[in-house]
Amino acid sequence: MTLRADVSATLLAALDRGESLPARWYTDPSITEREIARVFRKSWNYIGPLSQLVDIGDYVTGYAGGVPVAVVRNENGLAGLVNVCRHRRHEVLKGRGNAKSLQCGYHAWTYDLAGGLKRVPRSASEPNFNLADFPLLPIRAEAVGPFVFVNLDPEAPTAASCYGPVLDLIAESGVVLHTLVHYGREEWRSNANWKTMLENYLECYHCAVAHPGFNAAIDVRPDVYTLKAHGYFSSQSGPVRPAALEGKAKRKLYDVSGVVRQSQYHFLWPNVTININPGFPNLSIDVWTPDGPNATRGFSEQFFGPGVSEDFAKSLVSFNKQVAAEDDALTDSVQRGLIGGLPDTGRFLTNSEHLVIHFQKMIVEAVGES
Ligand SMILES: [Fe+2]
Repeated sequence: MTLRADVSATLLAALDRGESLPARWYTDPSITEREIARVFRKSWNYIGPLSQLVDIGDYVTGYAGGVPVAVVRNENGLAGLVNVCRHRRHEVLKGRGNAKSLQCGYHAWTYDLAGGLKRVPRSASEPNFNLADFPLLPIRAEAVGPFVFVNLDPEAPTAASCYGPVLDLIAESGVVLHTLVHYGREEWRSNANWKTMLENYLECYHCAVAHPGFNAAIDVRPDVYTLKAHGYFSSQSGPVRPAALEGKAKRKLYDVSGVVRQSQYHFLWPNVTININPGFPNLSIDVWTPDGPNATRGFSEQFFGPGVSEDFAKSLVSFNKQVAAEDDALTDSVQRGLIGGLPDTGRFLTNSEHLVIHFQKMIVEAVGES
């Protein structure tokens, strides 16, 4: 056994006892670099909704493990591409939209919708230059239900095999995925390690303490609120509180009546979360990306079922923002504790925080000894 394997085994055994990863895993830039190489470049990265990739020429752009990427709808289906020109490595596409061809804005090198290089100004007089030698680099792109993912690793298991069962769980909530309408997308940045933020997402032990509004809407008591790890994803669910349904909640709430009577919070390894709250059909999806060891940037996309009122949409978005602001205050504080490095490890409650332990084990297994 190598030294690396020994150290990983020690960390995994500590996690089984409820002892967390050492603080340095949250503050050391070399760990973040390893995570980008060994986690994000080997996993599925959410790029956008399938509803924005319907017509030939539709495209969305984003990042996978720090690499600019794009997904384009062409006559053969979805094409995943590294969104970087083979010439001087300028990004080819920006944002999202529809195009007949993919033209780089730097020197007008132009690719077809499958990434083949078709036109290069002045190339006719360039010796030994073949357009066919410089296509945009292909990557894998897969839709799981209405969500499109890309992966830089040709060996990774399919997205459907990792996340497919989440669709069945979502169906139980009353949300009908294929009817969801994209409402908006917002980008955000926060001052905590990406794992600090997701580990906060992965337990609801803090909900009664730190989320008064959320706690008034959703029953977070441990006998009814469930947390289950499923391998590449994990799921939490809690029922709407009867008092909230009857309009007798202790705090002013959005309208929780509607066909969705349970909340669902799914985590898709390594950095995607899907939220459904009680009320009229709703779903939001978040992506959490490391921005160095001590910050995270991401985006949040909100969807609603057809016919959901603008009033409900606005009030639910504001409910979600309130919960996110409360979580940001918690994780910013945790990050300050981690930066100090004392104490070096924390102690989980293994019955309430087992999803966090599962996540940290996956990190150790992917990243290895540090
Ligand atoms: Fe929280």
